[in-house]
Amino acid sequence: MDYKGKLIVFEGIDGSGKTTLCREVFKVLVSQGKSCISTFEPTNGKWGKLLRKSFSAKRLNPKEELELFIKDRKEHVKELIIPSMVEGKIVLCDRYYLSTMAYQGARGIDVYKIKKENEAFAPLPNMAFILHIDVREALRRISEKRGDKLNSFERYDYLRRVAEIFDSFNFPWIKRLDASLPKEILVKKVINIIDKLDC
Ligand code: TMP
Repeated sequence: MDYKGKLIVFEGIDGSGKTTLCREVFKVLVSQGKSCISTFEPTNGKWGKLLRKSFSAKRLNPKEELELFIKDRKEHVKELIIPSMVEGKIVLCDRYYLSTMAYQGARGIDVYKIKKENEAFAPLPNMAFILHIDVREALRRISEKRGDKLNSFERYDYLRRVAEIFDSFNFPWIKRLDASLPKEILVKKVINIIDKLDC
């Protein structure tokens, strides 16, 4: 289905800087007078909250975890993403179903089954920016810059598998960005591409 609005998603492994990039791009679009919203997954809804709780406690089994991410996304798509696109807004989303393919795929679930299950209800993004970063550098950024203890999603071997799945995607609506570039350059690149999407 075609919507008046556009869906732009930001993806990459933890520590890649996608949340900062999404926030900065949102600021520029607002300053240009564009009608847009910025959102994220997992959401702050009931399923998203359950998921976030599980990150710092005992990790759910892969199937249960996948089910919760799908329930969270179904609610997000129905209640926020589609209505905003119908109104003609640009929706910026920090993580979407490429994350499910990569993260739950890295736990052994078939990546293309995950894609199919998502595309049955979730609109295709107009553009997905994937921030590419070396896994060790990403982990260094998390523990040194954020000062956090690593959670169960942030272990090297696991993130390495996640990164490999992100690297394997070759959909026409993907643009890979080098996460080591200065933030201002990344923002400019993203804004140039969004401008060309005609919104
Ligand atoms: P965040 O750090 O971007 O808030 O995301 C929280 C974690 O959730 C991150 O480690 C990736 C993970 N995640 C999945 O495993 N599958 C998904 O579908 C999504 C959206 C996130």
